[in-house]
Amino acid sequence: MKNEIINLLKKEGKIPNEINDANINEFADLIKEIGKRKTQHLKASEISKELNTRLIGKDLYIFNEVGSTNTLAKYLSENDIENGSIIISEKQNAARGRSGKSWESPLGGIWLSIILNPNVDSSKIHLITLATGVAVAKSLKRIGIENPEIKWPNDIMINGKKVCGILTEAITKFNSIKIVIVGVGIDANLSIEDLPEELQNTTTTLENELEKKVDENKLIRIFLEEFERIYEIYSHEKYEEILKDWRKSSYSIGKIVEVKKPKNKSYDGYVVGISKDGGLIIEKYDGTLEKVISGECIIKN
Ligand code: BTN
Repeated sequence: MKNEIINLLKKEGKIPNEINDANINEFADLIKEIGKRKTQHLKASEISKELNTRLIGKDLYIFNEVGSTNTLAKYLSENDIENGSIIISEKQNAARGRSGKSWESPLGGIWLSIILNPNVDSSKIHLITLATGVAVAKSLKRIGIENPEIKWPNDIMINGKKVCGILTEAITKFNSIKIVIVGVGIDANLSIEDLPEELQNTTTTLENELEKKVDENKLIRIFLEEFERIYEIYSHEKYEEILKDWRKSSYSIGKIVEVKKPKNKSYDGYVVGISKDGGLIIEKYDGTLEKVISGECIIKN
C-alpha cells in the first residue's frame, strides 16, 4: 500500500519527503484532490452528466495511473470517504485478480472500484460479487452485446471468452464487515493483441466483439446505474431476485466442471444450479450433490 501511494504522488510530481506507516493517512486529501483533476481519456463530467443514481458514483475519483484501484480504494476507505464512491484509473500497474493472480490493465480498459459500507454479515458478501456480475451483464446488453453470460462466480463471458473480471474484498473490524470494495475490470477498447499472448485465446474485448470502440464514459455511467439498482435489491435482502437474474445469464449451469479445492482432491461434476447463498451446486458422477462456495471451477465442455 505505502509504495503505491508514494508512486502515485511521484507520478503527479509530488514527492513526499517522508512517508511512513505512521503518517501515510495524511496524504489522503492530496490523493483525493488528484482524483478530481482532469484525466486524458475518461471524463468525470461525461460520466456524471446524466448519472441517475442516489448513492453510487456521487463521488468519482479518476486517475491517470495507479497500482490497483482496489488498493487505493482500501486506503481511501480508511480516510473518510463517502459510501458509494468510485475510484477509476485509466491504467493500473499492479492490478490484482482473483487467487493472487495479476490483472492486465492497459489504457483502453475500464478499471474501477466501488467503496461500499453495507450492513450485512460476512456470509452475504459473496452475493455482492454475483450481483455485480448481473449489473455488468445488463450494462453490456445495453450497449449492444447480445448475450453476455456469467461464469461462476465472477467472470463475464461473451461467446465463451472472458471480457470482465470482478474482485470483491472486505475490510473487517472485530469480526464484522466494515467496508466492501468491489473491483471491476472490463476489457473495453482494447484489441486482442494488446493482451499478453497467453490470454489471447481465452479473452475477448468489447471493441473486438462490437467491431468499434465503445464510449467508455457512457458505459461507466450505465454500469453505475445498473449496479445501484441491484445493490438496492441486495440491501433489501431480496437475494432470490438477484439469483433469478444470475441464473438467466449463467454460463456455468448445465456444464461439466472440474472443481479444484485448495488442499482437497479435485473432482468433476455437472453444474445443476446456484444455492441461496450463491454457491455453485454440483452433481458429482456418483449422484451426490456438493456446494462450492469458493475455489476454482474449470469448465470442461
Ligand atoms: C479476476 O481475476 O477475474 C478479477 C479481476 C479484477 C480486476 C479489477 S480491475 C479494477 C480492480 N483493481 C484491481 O486491482 N483489480 C480489480
